[in-house]
Amino acid sequence: MSGCPRLISSSAMAVAGGVTAFSCSLATVHRPPRRRRHTTPRASGAVEIRVCTNRTCACQGGREVLAALEGLAPPGVDVASCGCLGRCGAGPNIAASVSGSAAIFGHVGTAAHAAQLLEHLLGGSGFDAAAGLAALAAREKAEAALEKGDAAEAEAVLTEALEKNICGGLHLMYRSRSKARLSMGNITGALADAEEATKIAPEFPQAHLSRGDALFTMEEYRHAENAYADALDLDPSIRRTKSFRARVEKLREKLVSADTSS
Ligand SMILES: *[C@@H]1O[C@H](CO)[C@@H](O)[C@H](O)[C@H]1NC(C)=O
Ligand SMILES: *[C@@H]1O[C@H](CO)[C@@H](O)[C@H](O)[C@H]1NC(C)=O
Repeated sequence: MSGCPRLISSSAMAVAGGVTAFSCSLATVHRPPRRRRHTTPRASGAVEIRVCTNRTCACQGGREVLAALEGLAPPGVDVASCGCLGRCGAGPNIAASVSGSAAIFGHVGTAAHAAQLLEHLLGGSGFDAAAGLAALAAREKAEAALEKGDAAEAEAVLTEALEKNICGGLHLMYRSRSKARLSMGNITGALADAEEATKIAPEFPQAHLSRGDALFTMEEYRHAENAYADALDLDPSIRRTKSFRARVEKLREKLVSADTSS
């Protein structure tokens, strides 16, 4: 008994790199509900990747692989989670479509596998797995430093990584450096990085939060409010988070005192 619906009628075929591919239709893949403000028609060379995060694949690391792919994927590659793709137990399973032809890949269990899959799908000139993994490692190192309160170390690691020719995850790196610069007191640098992140990934809510944080520190409270509203517009669920509620509370205090003193 599997309890896992088999959504795809598949016929096995082998592809290079030891991954097994099945023909499938991405029409069976579910998108999480999310409002899209900037919908542009997909180019014919579009690449879509869907990672199963349903129970069995989640146990096998589906969510971690989803996060790794989101961090690695170059702009134009659309990465999201999806429901069961069948083949439960051989996961994490990933459905990928390149220029309309789709396949399912099993056993994509680590960031290294995810990077190899991207290189396989995009070709060596479209994605360099080793460079992508190095950039991902740099961002993780910087985020760990930031967590420990060492913003200068985080800033240095990210600046060094950003000087290299990185193909994916740039918005995440600029967002992290924005946080590091803000805690170092480099407010204009923090705002510039947050704006760069929103330019690269306009639908990435955390970039708008960082933009709001920099504007708040600049005492640009109305602009900060608008940036937070942009983040909320993209992901209404952040309203319930502790960090967002703290931002709103701080902003309210400033706006109230600005109103009463004028
Ligand atoms: C996820 O798996 C459960 C069984 O574990 C199944 O009932 C459910 O329909 C699956 N959801 C999707 C979206 O595939
Ligand atoms: C502050 O940010 C600017 C970019 O706006 C950058 O050139 C500068 O090196 C940063 N300073 C520090 C100390 O990080």
